[in-house]
Amino acid sequence: MTQFKDNDSDLQQVAGNGLLHRRLFLGRGAAMLGGLGLFSASASAQQGPLQIPQWMLEPGAHMSGYGQRSQYEEGVQRIVGGAPGVSGSGVSFTPLQNLHGTITPNSLHFERHHSGVPNINPEEHRLLIHGLVSRPLVFSMDDLMRYPTVTRIQFLECSGNSFNNMLPEAQQAPVGVLHGLMSCSEWTGVPLSILMDEAGVEPEGDWVLAEGADAAAMSRSIPMEKIMDDAIIALYQNGERLRPENGYPMRLFLPGWEGNMAVKWLRRLKVNRDPTMTRDETSHYTDVLLDGRARMFTYPMAVKSVITSPSTGLNLNSGPGIYEITGLAWSGAGRIRRVEVSADGGASWAEAAISGPALDKSFTRFRMAWRWNGGPATLKSRAIDETGAVQPTRDELVSIHGERSNYHNNSIQTWHVAENSGEVSNVYA
Ligand code: CO
Repeated sequence: MTQFKDNDSDLQQVAGNGLLHRRLFLGRGAAMLGGLGLFSASASAQQGPLQIPQWMLEPGAHMSGYGQRSQYEEGVQRIVGGAPGVSGSGVSFTPLQNLHGTITPNSLHFERHHSGVPNINPEEHRLLIHGLVSRPLVFSMDDLMRYPTVTRIQFLECSGNSFNNMLPEAQQAPVGVLHGLMSCSEWTGVPLSILMDEAGVEPEGDWVLAEGADAAAMSRSIPMEKIMDDAIIALYQNGERLRPENGYPMRLFLPGWEGNMAVKWLRRLKVNRDPTMTRDETSHYTDVLLDGRARMFTYPMAVKSVITSPSTGLNLNSGPGIYEITGLAWSGAGRIRRVEVSADGGASWAEAAISGPALDKSFTRFRMAWRWNGGPATLKSRAIDETGAVQPTRDELVSIHGERSNYHNNSIQTWHVAENSGEVSNVYA
């Protein structure tokens, strides 16, 4: 946890239990805090000149063909969970507690595999578009690379993200385990509308079956409207070719929609009159409701946010003082309009500072200055998107979904900060 030295009594509280005005994290506000010495809790030049470290006494390593992170950062890892006894089936979580900014490094992007990661030779891989089209088409990688591309920064969230917070007891796990089935990348690929126009979709072709080239032949039905709106065949992620675990050599990408539909290792798009009712969209990815009925074809990921620090394991070790509360907000419906933070369990809220432009269907980083007085605190964040949709509380979500649904949990995360120790825990409140 970053702690600032709290020696300015003029810092204005704007909501209960010590939340400060967002201007502290906008424009010159942070510089003002610096001028007050609030960032230098432990820094002091009084101990004399710097020592000459060993690495200044000899030349460093040579250039390398492909970069690696520092050996001192190797502890930052995806948290891998598998289905017992099922090879290659399960999830790995993005360690949100270790990440800042809004872009997820490719090596830490979350994973969900249904039958392992295929080792696909791009020379042999083909994409077929067929069904209700006037001209069935087969694309090699070389064929696809000749088409125009688009580049967008957008999130991808598993429909089952935050399923841990549907368990009867709040789990004391890192924020990455609670909410890390989501990531955000710069995606580059070919707009699918171009390929569909070339194939010539028949008037009754309202649905598209998308099938992957993994051993599960994972498949979902996609409405043609989305395919023609903003769907792409993604080829690049954060500037380099997709990683195998994220669909190399190509995946479907449907901005703002549940991750499972962004079919990886894409090999086939069949235009149909109706949805196919595949195993993956009937046995999984339907939302059981409190009254026993189930919702099918729930595609957009709703407005959501989570405070990533403080969070479980990121405790307030430095004692009372000014801290930065920071987290991520996103919405499958568009841009984030506003993020509000509460330090008193939702009794009062203050608007957080948004870093940079809030991009469409992308992670948005928010920050809030907070003066912790050493007492108990209950932290929440609440996102509002450009459609006016407001992130619900857990109680509001449960009143509709019950606690049996593992999908589409966009409810507010609550962190409890313990008096004196500053230890942070996950609570339902
Ligand atoms: Co859904």
